[in-house]
Amino acid sequence: MKAAPFKAVVFDAYGTLYDIQSVAAVTEQAFPGHGDIITQIWRIKQLEYTWLRSLMQRYEDFAVVTRESLLYTLRVLGLQADAPTLERIIAKYLALDPYPDARAALAAMKGRRLAILSNGSPAMLGGLVKATGFDVLLDAVISVDAHRIFKPSPQAYALIEERLGLAPRDVLFVSSNPWDVCGAKAFGLNVAWIERVTPEAMAAACATTDLVAPLTLFKALRTQMDELGFAPDYRIAALSELPEIVASHEP
Ligand code: LAC
Repeated sequence: MKAAPFKAVVFDAYGTLYDIQSVAAVTEQAFPGHGDIITQIWRIKQLEYTWLRSLMQRYEDFAVVTRESLLYTLRVLGLQADAPTLERIIAKYLALDPYPDARAALAAMKGRRLAILSNGSPAMLGGLVKATGFDVLLDAVISVDAHRIFKPSPQAYALIEERLGLAPRDVLFVSSNPWDVCGAKAFGLNVAWIERVTPEAMAAACATTDLVAPLTLFKALRTQMDELGFAPDYRIAALSELPEIVASHEP
């Protein structure tokens, strides 16, 4: 018996369709030798601030949180950024590189309802999808800003049904962020995890002498499946594997 078809495929944005590490090109140029450590601490703090602001019920949109976590990162690293440098780094965050297979994967599923559900503010997401031309491939770009609380709050995932009119059981949610995978699964969505760093790659990174390399520490903190009692329905290495999974659910 075939599994029920997915009536929509909804993507996380940062880390899933868009490569947050691509900002390192600008942070390294601005602060040679610090590009990696800035990018990793920044992402860790950015997410931490979304969770803290949600728990504190002191919501500020993702543009504010992204700027505040960058200011924290530069301060703790003792790096002085003048206004033009700060704006150049932030500007890159508004124009991150898409993953190489993102466009083809979306195009291969054209004809299905495709959407983004992201912590990004409406302005950030609008700029991203327009700059990459994904706006013509997506039926909806949904920002958690509408409910003023960040993922993995159930109130964030509830926006999918509110905007698309589809029950969680009819939707495949796609994310590379383990915490987001667990949150979406806990909410009742079907979930595909883009496992960009396999346990073998993680072990290999830890086996090298640069155990405390920023990217190694980041991978250890943000790319391995969390111990929260929830597991994805699909573990895949790349977006390019999605069309076949979605097609396998065809009636
Ligand atoms: C997103 C990242 C933060 O919501 O997971 O796009």
